[in-house]
Amino acid sequence: MVELVKVSKVYPPDIMALQDISLSVKRGEMIFLTGMSGAGKTTLLKLICSLETSDKGLVEVAGHDLNRIKPVVLQRLRQKIGVAYQDFRLLPLQSVYQNIAMAMEVSYLPPATIRKRVESLLEQLGIADKRDKLAGKISRGEQQRVAIARAAANAPTLLLADEPTGNLDATITKLVVGLLESLNQAGTTMIIATHDQSIYRQTNHRVINLEHGRFTEPPMEP
Ligand SMILES: Nc1ncnc2c1ncn2[C@@H]1O[C@H](COP(=O)(O)OP(=O)(O)OP(=O)(O)O)[C@@H](O)[C@H]1O
Ligand SMILES: [Mg+2]
Repeated sequence: MVELVKVSKVYPPDIMALQDISLSVKRGEMIFLTGMSGAGKTTLLKLICSLETSDKGLVEVAGHDLNRIKPVVLQRLRQKIGVAYQDFRLLPLQSVYQNIAMAMEVSYLPPATIRKRVESLLEQLGIADKRDKLAGKISRGEQQRVAIARAAANAPTLLLADEPTGNLDATITKLVVGLLESLNQAGTTMIIATHDQSIYRQTNHRVINLEHGRFTEPPMEP
């Protein structure tokens, strides 16, 4: 699903965010990306969803080389990738409902299907009562859950979650992890960047650790 070969990313003028990274993520896999603040986790996710481009190396997603992909093909590919950003990127003046539904409206799904899906996600994440609130007027922990719901809405082929439990207590963290696990079991490939050991310590999923833009040990094949 994701193939990185000797990828480097430099932010001008000279910040080596990633150096010579190689990683292969199989379809249906769920992997955790760990590492200290500034290690390069967000940068790695941004390369995979094509929000940033690599300076060196190959970034391939679902068989497409992202440095060569045509804009129209990229647009279609991105509809299959759900991203829960570390900084959420919600539209603050739109409702919670609208922020999540938007992800599905671009796929021309019937309105009733969209409504059922959005309401089910809100329920699963414990924010059903925030449905009609403006996304800018709810707590950070609630905004975080809206970002996750939006990323999950379209049953994406690939889901990238950047610190999905950063603002959540242990009880809500379990709801989020439960949702992510169930999506993974339904076939979604998942890459989760996190500091939160509680969400991967007791799983069998692969954990890879970044340090100053490099993996501390070469990632094992799944
Ligand atoms: N847009 C940018 N311009 C310049 N430097 C950047 C930019 N984004 C990130 N960096 C730098 O690149 C390095 C990797 O940053 P990145 O955001 O990928 O780390 P991270 O592992 O996600 O950290 P955190 O755990 O704090 O979210 C850091 O040194 C950071 O300061
Ligand atoms: Mg980050």
